[in-house]
Amino acid sequence: METSTLTPITSGVFKAREQKRRSLFSHIWNELIPKVFEDVPQYYRSGNILASFGLWEVWVWQFIRTIKLKPGYQALDVCAGTNDVGIRLLQKEPGITVTAIDRSKEMQEEGQKRATKYKVKIESIIQDVHTLPFADNSFDVITLQAASRHLEMDKVLLEILRVLKPGGHFYHCDMLKPSNRVVEWFYLRFLRVSVALTALVFGSTEASRNCGEYFKDAIQHFYTPEELTEVFELVGFTNVACKKSVWGGMVGYHNSQKPG
Ligand SMILES: C[S@@+](CC[C@H](N)C(=O)[O-])C[C@H]1O[C@@H](n2cnc3c(N)ncnc32)[C@H](O)[C@@H]1O
Repeated sequence: METSTLTPITSGVFKAREQKRRSLFSHIWNELIPKVFEDVPQYYRSGNILASFGLWEVWVWQFIRTIKLKPGYQALDVCAGTNDVGIRLLQKEPGITVTAIDRSKEMQEEGQKRATKYKVKIESIIQDVHTLPFADNSFDVITLQAASRHLEMDKVLLEILRVLKPGGHFYHCDMLKPSNRVVEWFYLRFLRVSVALTALVFGSTEASRNCGEYFKDAIQHFYTPEELTEVFELVGFTNVACKKSVWGGMVGYHNSQKPG
């Protein structure tokens, strides 16, 4: 099968790609996305399960498996949403502390309800993640799942690197741009339909119903698993590995470290 032509991600390519993403999506990131996440907290998880035909659970479970934890670790979950990652980290290693940051009050309120239900404690900070309100070298582990497509990666990755302790690990998982063009063609069409259908099934607002086209475009202008590895290296992470890339690169699990 044909695969995409891979352009090495030099700093010029990265800068240009981020500028393009900003010019295409800034208004959506600032206006539509906050409305969508105001609307979805109660059905966010079941919506994901439906939209992915059940694969969401496998995806998250596989991500958590890649993460190494030790008692005493300080973990930060960036764009924590309803705390799906934070809760599972604490279930895996109850001896850690988890801080969640997300700009959606509604998603985090649901996240706190879920944390109480699962009897774990997660500190919640409501703030945009392009500036992280933490001192340099604060965290042993930072996670970011299913949100990068809505972010200015050149800014957020530098902030994550800054607040990670030397030697600390950054674990990233998201739906990526498939390296294979045939997979990409089917995937983007599937995505558009499944997002719209899920919004319809759950009777959500116009904002959620209208975001299918954006979800497709956001992935099309995002990075393949191989490109994302290069992006992390370029920003300054070391030992970058795409631990796993599944379904033709539709989902990628990256593990990287701050030099220390
Ligand atoms: C698809 S959800 C993922 C939530 C969670 N990581 C998970 O995997 O279940 C994306 C989250 O990113 C948050 N988000 C998007 N842009 C953000 C920004 N600029 N600053 C903070 N949070 C943001 C949204 O509010 C939403 O909760």
